[in-house]
Amino acid sequence: MLSGFLEKRYSVLFPGLTGEMLTRPLPQALRVNTLRITEGELVERLQRRGFELEKVPWVRHGYFIRRAPFSPGATPEYLLGYYYLQDPASMYACEVLDPRPGELVLDAAAAPGGKTTYIAQLMQNRGCVVAVEVNRQRIRALRASVMRLGVENAILVRMDAREVSELGLLFDRVLLDAPCTGTGTAHKAREALTKDEGDLRNLLPLQRSLMGAAYRVLRPGGVMVYATCSLLPEENELLLQDFLEETGARMMKIKHGSPALDRPYGRSLRKDIKRARRFYPWVHNTQGFFVAKIQKPYR
Ligand SMILES: C[S@@+](CC[C@H](N)C(=O)[O-])C[C@H]1O[C@@H](n2cnc3c(N)ncnc32)[C@H](O)[C@@H]1O
Repeated sequence: MLSGFLEKRYSVLFPGLTGEMLTRPLPQALRVNTLRITEGELVERLQRRGFELEKVPWVRHGYFIRRAPFSPGATPEYLLGYYYLQDPASMYACEVLDPRPGELVLDAAAAPGGKTTYIAQLMQNRGCVVAVEVNRQRIRALRASVMRLGVENAILVRMDAREVSELGLLFDRVLLDAPCTGTGTAHKAREALTKDEGDLRNLLPLQRSLMGAAYRVLRPGGVMVYATCSLLPEENELLLQDFLEETGARMMKIKHGSPALDRPYGRSLRKDIKRARRFYPWVHNTQGFFVAKIQKPYR
């Protein structure tokens, strides 16, 4: 069921990995939207409806849904925007970005808005999140998320983020949750198992350009988070290595997750690349995910 392309790579990167470990269903998770409700009140309301929740120990507002008597997207609390259904690794990318109230933040690939809305929540609806998305259909979903969750400090812009400098803004923080092969999402999308060389070839130039464009609008001293839901080093460590060499950006530490790979396919990378983090379905009970935090030098 795995494409030959992935099989060849995974057997080297993750010896002993089986298809079952990739496709095993993962527990659903929710993020409490503290813009609308307190954590305690939401937990109590959902428990009264028969849901069993378990705190995700390494994210601030996340809960695994251990038992759901019916779809967690069909409660009054969901419709009222009291929570967002989101993978904990995605939540964590926003916590790593660490946006502060009052700052100017760019979310360069924003739809459907899971991270935009969490960034706004962490900023307590103060300051501004500029949420850029190129796809007209997907921006509808982004608008719906922003409205449902009561976000008041987001500006939605439909544009190609490779041209984001045209906005004439410099940002304190930038999140690039890049379009990727999605190889970390096989638990919900079987096509994640069939990705091949062509998929990667189409995406790499886009990822590279988006990263460059996003970095250019970061103020000196500003912080950028690069994330993907891919397990492939080509879209993660290898891309980052070239980017760091070109820009002189500094890798910052991230607490949770497994260290990034510093010798993928036997190729030696910079030691500080390990500061980036990986999340694996078979280790962390999340989608496969990569997150790196870098700082632009002041000079
Ligand atoms: C991984 S998804 C983002 C998910 C989102 N951050 C969230 O957490 O809900 C990547 C998004 O990038 C968008 N995208 C692709 N190319 C783009 C471009 N050149 N400029 C802006 N957005 C782009 C895609 O349409 C897609 O919605």
